[in-house]
Amino acid sequence: MSTSDADRWWHGGVFYQIYPRSFADTNHDGVGDLPGITAKLDYLADLGISGIWLSPVTVSPDRDWGYDVADYCGIDPGFGTLADLDTLVSEAGHRGIRILMDLVPNHTSDQHSWFVDARSGPDAAHRDWYVWAHPKPDGSPPNNWLSVFGGSAWELDEASGQYYLHNFEAQQPDLNWWSEDVRGAFDAIVRFWWDRGVSGFRIDVCNMMIKDAELRDNPPATEGDPLDQQLMGLRAVYNSDRPEAHNILQRWRTIADGYETPPLLIGETNVEQLTTLMEFYGDGRNELHGGFNFVFINANLEAEAMRRVVEDTEALLPEGAWPIWTGSNHDVSRLATRWAGGDVAKVRCALLILLTLRGTPFLYQGDEIGLTDGPIFQSDLHDAVGIRFWPYYKGRDPERTPMPWSNTPGGGFTSPGVTPWLPMGDPAACNVADQEADVDSVLAFTRRAIAGRRHSDDLAVGPYRSLPSPTGTWAYARGERTVVALNMSERAQPVEATGTIVLSTERTLEGTAVEGALTLAPWTGVVITS
Ligand code: GLC
Ligand code: CA
Repeated sequence: MSTSDADRWWHGGVFYQIYPRSFADTNHDGVGDLPGITAKLDYLADLGISGIWLSPVTVSPDRDWGYDVADYCGIDPGFGTLADLDTLVSEAGHRGIRILMDLVPNHTSDQHSWFVDARSGPDAAHRDWYVWAHPKPDGSPPNNWLSVFGGSAWELDEASGQYYLHNFEAQQPDLNWWSEDVRGAFDAIVRFWWDRGVSGFRIDVCNMMIKDAELRDNPPATEGDPLDQQLMGLRAVYNSDRPEAHNILQRWRTIADGYETPPLLIGETNVEQLTTLMEFYGDGRNELHGGFNFVFINANLEAEAMRRVVEDTEALLPEGAWPIWTGSNHDVSRLATRWAGGDVAKVRCALLILLTLRGTPFLYQGDEIGLTDGPIFQSDLHDAVGIRFWPYYKGRDPERTPMPWSNTPGGGFTSPGVTPWLPMGDPAACNVADQEADVDSVLAFTRRAIAGRRHSDDLAVGPYRSLPSPTGTWAYARGERTVVALNMSERAQPVEATGTIVLSTERTLEGTAVEGALTLAPWTGVVITS
């Protein structure tokens, strides 16, 4: 076996991302809250997950919906209290579910007391906790860096005549991670949560934390650069992906390793190249436990493309390192829409892949019922990026619409008559309660897949090996006795296998014996054990 017992809980487990505003509302304000999550823990336990990643619940003025933090150690009153968080952690723990919080270290809110002080003048105690620079002689920004969210990455502070850096919204000033004080402050923040029983962090944009100390201009983008950088005209060399970011992550790993049960560090490693992703694993033991694989997220639901990403990832991972697989999150269109175009057979295939690869899958709330993106009109917009770029880019509200629990007014997300903060999709078309009552639902399939994975050493921790199979199909072995085969094409195709089908996207195939070969209908997947 390739994994130690201490890691088995998460290597063999499945994580579930909760976007708290849209999960469950208990106090009738149309916004999800911490007691709502606690109330749904039995549902999550039945689903079979081992951990939850909570998108930010810390204090935020919500310029970027939680990702602009004004107090790293306080719970936003809209979500509840610190006591509610403690209750969630302990109630989840009773059900074998651990909680990861979201750590946002690249920037704070402009309303954080550190920035309020920093902005009070060049001599302020926290001034150099942020990145300040003088204008060019003509008064223009210090260099050519652009914000990920559009426009210059510099905002003029009229009072001091200096600019401050913001790689995202102007209300999200970047911290200066060259400062030992900033590092010390975050040491205390991670310990604060770990001491309370939080089992780790998903770390927001962890590849951007450090910027070039000389603030050099970014070079022009060339044809080989990622599309977004080509569109911006600049290659993000000096304001992102600096090598010194690894020192900070390794520092947190050292702190984590000092705990009896070391908390997990999972990075939002939104990088274009798998080789860059691997750098965040350090030597396999001294940096992140896992990094989100955006090359996989951005691949099409297509057998050859996905197999290539998986094979390359497997080949590049350092010894002892563990992959992370995801198809949806609060920043990208949900997999049921983006990968599957709303086709339920394709949704099941996507889930089968996520839940049977070697590595820890992170499902996003709603993936387990095949939830598609919600309908968003311009008047519904909450995401500043969507507001800025509509209609060319509609922003991230479609993947943030509330969870449909039942086909009732309010969808079981909020009370009848209450307007949810973002519109619900059509709960009649897709909801938890109806799927719980249907053995052939996507939810029933997801539950069987997670249970099967938990009870199989091959699926939980066995090595991955690609198997030969016709174009448009994907077959792989897990461990000694388990084979996964998918037909991801529009026509019936044969795959080689022998054994018993223990799980299938087509439930009626389960229990069937296979001798040598099996013809799979279009968009069908099976797990076979011998
Ligand atoms: C991450 C978050 C995203 C946020 C951005 C800035 O990418 O996932 O939601 O807008 O960081 O914090
Ligand atoms: Ca609420």
